[in-house]
Amino acid sequence: MSIAEGRLRVGVVGLGAVAREFHLPALISSKQFELVAGAEINADRRERIRKMFNIPEIYASYQEMYQNARLDVVFVCISNQLHYRTVVAALKAGLHVVCEKPMGTSALEARSMVDLAQQSELVLLPAYNLRFVETFVQAKEKIAHGIIGDLVQIQGTFFNPGPYITWDPKSDWHFDKQGYGVLYDLGSHLVDLMLYMTGIEVESVSAFSLFRYSDVEVPTNISCAFRAKNKIIGSLSLGWGTGALRCELQLHGTAGVLLVDQHQLTHLYRGIDPIERSIAYGCHAFAEIRSAFKRKLGAGAISPEHKKLTRNAADVILGRAFPVTSSYDAIRTHEILESIRTSLDQNGNVVSVKPETTQPDKK
Ligand SMILES: NC(=O)c1ccc[n+]([C@@H]2O[C@H](COP(=O)([O-])OP(=O)(O)OC[C@H]3O[C@@H](n4cnc5c(N)ncnc54)[C@H](O)[C@@H]3O)[C@@H](O)[C@H]2O)c1
Repeated sequence: MSIAEGRLRVGVVGLGAVAREFHLPALISSKQFELVAGAEINADRRERIRKMFNIPEIYASYQEMYQNARLDVVFVCISNQLHYRTVVAALKAGLHVVCEKPMGTSALEARSMVDLAQQSELVLLPAYNLRFVETFVQAKEKIAHGIIGDLVQIQGTFFNPGPYITWDPKSDWHFDKQGYGVLYDLGSHLVDLMLYMTGIEVESVSAFSLFRYSDVEVPTNISCAFRAKNKIIGSLSLGWGTGALRCELQLHGTAGVLLVDQHQLTHLYRGIDPIERSIAYGCHAFAEIRSAFKRKLGAGAISPEHKKLTRNAADVILGRAFPVTSSYDAIRTHEILESIRTSLDQNGNVVSVKPETTQPDKK
């Protein structure tokens, strides 16, 4: 199999939680990829995951894999602090890359990976999977069609129990100071999603945090207010250590409101008929029940958004589609995260985000 025959030989770096739960199931079910190799430093995990997914070639490090396996693409599923060196080595080895979010630990790292990919004429995509969630896709379309009028105010929330209470391994690298805790974990997703759905240009931020885990020097909970171009304001709330996962955006416009999370999308507007409103809520309750049943029955074992992300990655590499996730946007997300980080370090001071620069792959 080869690119010429339309099937891409793929290797996965880091066989931890995100690879096991999402990328490996999507890759082995894909007709466009052939899973050839995996690299993992932890010997027990390496063997366990190799058997679980029947991975033909297995290596103890990404360097060994890049040197020995015949690959077209790598999926980088390693801790954030190691994204940069793993991605740069892959690009230098002539491989296309799908890199987990937030694609490095700074705008500088992200920018230099993007530059190298561009010079090498290779594809580099950040794995911002929430861009493929159906409700968020529909909300983006509604906003683009002007259904809620001009955006005025946005409220985004992303909470989960923490990294990752129910997952094995426990991903302790999230507590490394360089990763800045919940900000780079959930904050990167929420900022990327908000920018993608609304196209707003954030100009300044002011943020506060809590450090709720003992012996850990990273923020576990953050509240951030922001101001954007075109008279838009908003807030983002992020938290670890809460009882359940919740990722939601409320988008308030001059002609209506969209309430959207991973399972439901509700459109409210002035003068909405009370029956229509009840039906809207009822439909989403039904959709929620159906999706809960599916999950319980195992029918949705492969995450639909990772299936779509995998398909889009293959199509982009094969020159058949535009990327849904953009490595240029990943740089912008880092710039906003860095401004939030500066505001946190300055106890809530208002910090300007540097003006947006040209982004060649924006459609
Ligand atoms: N998109 C999402 O929803 C989502 C969810 C979770 C994690 N992530 C991202 O995925 C990445 C990995 O997170 P995770 O939760 O899977 O972490 P994890 O700790 O579970 O897995 C990382 C794996 O990489 C291995 N590793 C470390 N150094 C290595 C090396 N030099 N060579 C090969 N393997 C090495 C570790 O042993 C571990 O098994 C992070 O960037 C994280 O932000 C994304």
